[in-house]
Amino acid sequence: MLHERFPRVELSQWPTPIEPLDRLSAALGGPRISIKRDDFGSIAMGGNKLRKLEYLLADAQAKGCDAIVTSGALQSNHARLTAAAAAKLGLECHIVLIDEVPDRRPAYYNSANRLIDDVVGAEVHLVRREDSLAEAVTRCTEQLQGQGKSPYVIPVGGSNPIGCLGYVACAREIVEQERVLGRSFTHIFVVSGSGGTHAGLLAGLHLSKSTSELIGATISRPVEKQRPIIEALVDGVSALLGIDAAAKSAIRLDDSMYLPGYGLPNDASREAIALCARYEGILLDPVYTSKAMAVVIDDIRTGRFGPKDDLLFIHTGGAPALFAYQEMFSRTAS
Ligand SMILES: Cc1ncc(COP(=O)(O)O)c(C=O)c1O
Repeated sequence: MLHERFPRVELSQWPTPIEPLDRLSAALGGPRISIKRDDFGSIAMGGNKLRKLEYLLADAQAKGCDAIVTSGALQSNHARLTAAAAAKLGLECHIVLIDEVPDRRPAYYNSANRLIDDVVGAEVHLVRREDSLAEAVTRCTEQLQGQGKSPYVIPVGGSNPIGCLGYVACAREIVEQERVLGRSFTHIFVVSGSGGTHAGLLAGLHLSKSTSELIGATISRPVEKQRPIIEALVDGVSALLGIDAAAKSAIRLDDSMYLPGYGLPNDASREAIALCARYEGILLDPVYTSKAMAVVIDDIRTGRFGPKDDLLFIHTGGAPALFAYQEMFSRTAS
């Protein structure tokens, strides 16, 4: 068992539910769609990073570290959840945030995830677009070491082999839920960003001998740049688990919705947000899940699936970021 082999702290309640999206399926005239609610979580509005942080923060504690350093974009969900989870465990937390998305309104800089970072008491270090995020992380880490502290550095998105373990566990959870439901999902859709979620699921589905096809929707890069990132993470997590890395042959990526680029919604992703909200009352986020759902919607409309297909969409969270993009979704904002 994963939990016995690797230290883990519990940050939320598992399993997350799988729910039907019947009204959305009917509106699209498509096959059955279900949603796994990994946007639920006990801490600071939840999201996929909690599963990774259960293993990463346990590793930090096992190594005797007393401060956490992580990094990401200014509206990073990962930074928000790292800061909140560190607060719960009594660890000092530094988040290094880069202002990389162009043409944002004031809410982007002071609301949503960025606001929660302050509420949970993280030390925020801001980096200008033209400066190096990696160098700023090194500077912050060295400063803490200079103060006699023992910092633990978590990479962008929590995506390293240890972080991937959270999604190995999620894959096993899905397979168990399939057994209980008496169903077998033909296709599972997930966001492929910094890649730990996608790679962990691949390794976990492989371990469980699942026949589901896992499709990773990219949100910041074309397939040829995303594939080596996922391959390296599958190699890393497979080595950690002591299994072969055959899951690499199951990497499927779809980059049809990532443009105009990271953090920049498009017409299809905005429509995905509207459809999920108005047919199901479910909030997707403007950076990640809306682009993955746009892939699902487009695949259904272009007739990719038959009536017997059974789709699972993994909701990885991020809806707090809607508040940072209010000009795109509010009927009153100008
Ligand atoms: C809401 C949300 N969904 C999906 C992802 C992508 O997960 P990963 O970075 O593991 O690819 C992220 C990453 O930040 C996220 O915040």
